[in-house]
Amino acid sequence: MKVITAISNMQKQMLTDKAQCKSIGFVPTMGFLHDGHASLLRKARAENDLVVLSIFVNPLQFGPNEDLDAYPRDFDRDNQLAEQLGTDYIFAPSADEMYPGPPSVVVKTTARTEVLCGKSRPGHFDGVATVLTKLFNIVRPDRVYFGMKDAQQVAVVEGLLADFHFPIELVAGETVREPDGLAKSSRNVYLLPNERSEAAFIYKALRLAEQMAAAGEKSAAKIQAAVETVIRENTTGQIDYLEILTYPDLEQVGELKGKIIVAAAVRFQKARLIDNIILTIE
Ligand code: PAJ
Repeated sequence: MKVITAISNMQKQMLTDKAQCKSIGFVPTMGFLHDGHASLLRKARAENDLVVLSIFVNPLQFGPNEDLDAYPRDFDRDNQLAEQLGTDYIFAPSADEMYPGPPSVVVKTTARTEVLCGKSRPGHFDGVATVLTKLFNIVRPDRVYFGMKDAQQVAVVEGLLADFHFPIELVAGETVREPDGLAKSSRNVYLLPNERSEAAFIYKALRLAEQMAAAGEKSAAKIQAAVETVIRENTTGQIDYLEILTYPDLEQVGELKGKIIVAAAVRFQKARLIDNIILTIE
């Protein structure tokens, strides 16, 4: 496994590999790897000749009062795990390498970002779309791997790839969870002990939505109220949002029909957690 930090070296390496007709699977991350990231690396390993992992905590996608400086990092551990999983290259640029000065062009999302995290984190998805455009041009992957834990990110990337004609296939991986159902996240380390046990109720609440829908409940408002109650009664966290929308267009629904996302964000003292489930209603 090679660790590359310079953009020019990464581009040269990829050109050399592509000249030998190697297929490239790319897993973009912000590091502090866990089983969620590992599942994407395994998938990429199984489906491509070469696997590229990027580790870059992208300042552009963090708001002024967010956790950019506190974002957890452990490059040595990430390095070991990536190597064990058969990764060929880690691309780990510095912030100065990626943004030597203020950007002269940024990518601005125009759909799918007025709701959920796009609403509570203004500018976040513009930062994600901009860094991914840069990374896609550096790595030139054939396939790119994203987790459904960040379902809105998957929807935004789908739009980015289509609108800018990137010849890249998007592969979405299932959300990987702790045994009690909590979605794995780099930010889980910031939960206080009581918050850690409460956090499992986010997924329990989302499962209630699934059960209600399976029992024939069609009213989004009724399901939303029931899910909110479970989270409110069982956690000390503040609900940032709890929304039921169409997926992947993320439009409002009154009556459940077709592919639906039930998505929640809950703010604990030092960590804001997100989770979702996707339902297909007949
Ligand atoms: P990061 O939060 O590090 O996540 C990297 C990838 O891992 C994303 O595709 C995310 O959806 C996936 N992931 C995280 N937790 C997961 C889980 N429990 N199960 C399955 N997949 C999971 O998302 C980002 O970084 C950044 O926004 C990035 C795309 C790298 C752009 O900066």
